[in-house]
Amino acid sequence: EKNKIDRRNFIKLGSLGATVVITWPLLNSCNGFASENKNTINPDFQADLDFELTAKETDIQLFHGNTTKVWMFEGNVLDGDKTTVQKLGKSYLGPIIRVRKGQKIRVRFKNQLPEESIVHWHGMHVPEEDDGHPKDVIANGETYVYEFEIMNRAGTYWFHPHPHGRTGPQVYNGLAGLFVVTDDEEQRLKLPSGEYDVPVVLQDRQFDNNNQLVYLNRGRMDRMNGFLGNRILINGNPDMKLSLKSGCAYRLRFLNGSNSRFYKLAWEDGTPLVIIGKDGSLLDSPKSKPYVMLGVAERIDVWLDLKNRPQGSQMIMKSLSFSPGMMGMMGGMIGRGRNNLPLGSTYEILKINIDKTGSNDFELPQRLAEFNKLDPATAVNRNNPRTFRFFMRRMQWTINGRTWEMTGVTEEETVKLNTTEVWEIVNRGGRMMGNDDMMGERGWMRNRGEMDRDRGMMGGGMQMPHPFHIHHLQFNILERDVSGVDSRIWNSVKDGFIDEGWQDTVLLMPGMSVKLIMRFEDFKGLFLYHCHNLEHEDMGMMRNFKIE
Ligand code: C2O
Ligand code: CU
Ligand code: CU
Repeated sequence: EKNKIDRRNFIKLGSLGATVVITWPLLNSCNGFASENKNTINPDFQADLDFELTAKETDIQLFHGNTTKVWMFEGNVLDGDKTTVQKLGKSYLGPIIRVRKGQKIRVRFKNQLPEESIVHWHGMHVPEEDDGHPKDVIANGETYVYEFEIMNRAGTYWFHPHPHGRTGPQVYNGLAGLFVVTDDEEQRLKLPSGEYDVPVVLQDRQFDNNNQLVYLNRGRMDRMNGFLGNRILINGNPDMKLSLKSGCAYRLRFLNGSNSRFYKLAWEDGTPLVIIGKDGSLLDSPKSKPYVMLGVAERIDVWLDLKNRPQGSQMIMKSLSFSPGMMGMMGGMIGRGRNNLPLGSTYEILKINIDKTGSNDFELPQRLAEFNKLDPATAVNRNNPRTFRFFMRRMQWTINGRTWEMTGVTEEETVKLNTTEVWEIVNRGGRMMGNDDMMGERGWMRNRGEMDRDRGMMGGGMQMPHPFHIHHLQFNILERDVSGVDSRIWNSVKDGFIDEGWQDTVLLMPGMSVKLIMRFEDFKGLFLYHCHNLEHEDMGMMRNFKIE
């Protein structure tokens, strides 16, 4: 660990003025950059699990008739327990990788795609060179070696590509997989495991008459909204059924792996959803919810008890209707005609056929994980949080008015190692935006603008939900401020948020802001924070932050 930090000491050179953008390659040249030798293994790194992860184009049989061309991660264990890299059946998704806290893993990522790529371990606390930053992309034919120790708590994480401007299409084509971490604390709880620990990756896609994936092809407005498909796939499979056993309890690990779509998940018959985990942790105790809002990239672990459900019965999960705000509704409108799943409408997600019978003795524990949340009193900026506003400016999605720069980072985005901070993330305009902002001065949007003027700012512009994500750490949510949210929106989603535990992604409806508390520890380096609507991300709603 010490060594890892030392290697990154050159970053200290970067304590420059507020407006200075620090450009990484310059620093690299004066101090060997870790990434340079990431195409070879470190023989001193004793890996518990060593595997190849190859990204390649392939044809799979998803439907009757024509095969579908997809991009897919293929896992191949070189050393370690082969069952921990588990292939899904009929699916384009990558393998489920199961690891335990404290283990060391080596992943040899091989890029066989016709373009550059790099893999990011979403939610994992890893050094900069293992984080899959877009600056570390490798070309077709190259290998990138990740070597890191699992430092995270038990939780449901995932991996996906992260090249700048191409994350949306690469994930869409199939490149994503679950990364499941367990630890001693979780093992003691005896939660459902093996066949009773079931992945449920939600994604929307659209296929043409030849069974080929259709991505965005309808111009800029489409990308502003993000991709919305016309059908839901579960675990990379268009047949959205699971077959489970009466008499048994299950742990369902939901990941919203969609590009832009988010869900208001509920059991059709009104059974509450029992949530036991969110993103990077189990909750302290199970929480019962009428429905859950699941933003892009968010995960929830759901307890499902089929002990009293007869064989032959069915459970259906739906996404219920809600108001996504102006742009979300437009997305639905634009898609209409072709898209029978507008964002915010009601539609079916998943059918559970209870067509077998069995028994297991997993009991829902009343106490799950023990943890102390970060204490606001320990934050260096408790009364003066860093504020990051997510809004549209001159037809660009921005963060505080800035868009993506590969290695650019400002003082405002630079934090100190071993400190705790409060960040305020705001889904609302930040400055005078002028008439070039579509609809910014009109109608419903105008009310938003007036609201911001009360805070001494002129806001507005197009508003959409944004799922905020930060790399490298798990945060706690201190508060969700909904005073700026249109009441139609708020009333339709208000019971669906899970703000306890440790998480790395949080969904912000239009007008919403959240205060997050986070700690920067163990590693210095350059990491990302961004909107996880992948089309927004690709359009530049992504920035670096630096730990120095
Ligand atoms: Cu899933 Cu930059 O993240
Ligand atoms: Cu991430
Ligand atoms: Cu966004």
